[in-house]
Amino acid sequence: MYETISKYYDAMYVDDDSYRSEVEKVVALVEQHKKSEGTTTIGKSTTSTHSHAPCGTLTLLDIACGTGAQAAYLQEYFTVTGIDICDEMLEVAKRKVRNASFINADMCNFNLHNQFDVIVNLYGSIGQVESLEHMQMAMNCVSKHLKPGGIFILTPWSTKESFREALVGRAKTYELSGFCRMETVKLVSPSKIKIDYHHLISDNLDVKYYQHSNYITLFSESEYVSSILNTGMQIIKRLAPDEFRMGAFICTV
Ligand SMILES: C[S@@+](CC[C@H](N)C(=O)[O-])C[C@H]1O[C@@H](n2cnc3c(N)ncnc32)[C@H](O)[C@@H]1O
Repeated sequence: MYETISKYYDAMYVDDDSYRSEVEKVVALVEQHKKSEGTTTIGKSTTSTHSHAPCGTLTLLDIACGTGAQAAYLQEYFTVTGIDICDEMLEVAKRKVRNASFINADMCNFNLHNQFDVIVNLYGSIGQVESLEHMQMAMNCVSKHLKPGGIFILTPWSTKESFREALVGRAKTYELSGFCRMETVKLVSPSKIKIDYHHLISDNLDVKYYQHSNYITLFSESEYVSSILNTGMQIIKRLAPDEFRMGAFICTV
């Protein structure tokens, strides 16, 4: 599905304020909890554009980075590597975020032969994995790639306990272009959610209709906790959605 929506993902889903504030929270959590070697003062660029050289001395792996919406801000603080399974999303990220590296890799099965000070898996992307076994494989990969004392931040999609069926609708126009999106989010089995996306996209007064469907795996709070702890990682904090977008597990190894 992400192959087709990559071109208009940013216009429809990326709200710069919430992405910037999410990245600022990542930085604050790393400053507070990181114990891996290396400087504890995170580099901060003096420019606000997205085209400067990375100044962070800490390395960060952004898992399921998509179009680089977080990486665009993360690169101001860290040396960023982003991985995603969708080439089209990565192409957008490469064009937009010039000072990060982007690699096609499956979050459930990757080996970058490297360890990072910080690893993030944000915006509920973990819900894209097929099963509990796949989530465990993804957590095993994280723990292998995290430096001792490093920080891993995971936002769950929604948990079995907190999930509610929903209808999401948004629209925006920019002169002759714009979008209108409506999405139904339904429980189709105890651990599967189906999202049906209905998108109207106008490009210079040419309006097209796209329909996509996507399945999300729903995990319970205890399945998240045990998948993390089974790897030998520890959970330092569990943040609620009002403290971090979609909530977060803050972990270390
Ligand atoms: C909701 S988007 C989030 C992208 C970005 N982090 C953001 O917040 O805008 C989910 C991303 O997960 C990626 N994805 C899905 N399954 C994956 C997998 N097994 N391994 C790596 N990336 C995956 C998709 O290609 C998509 O870019």
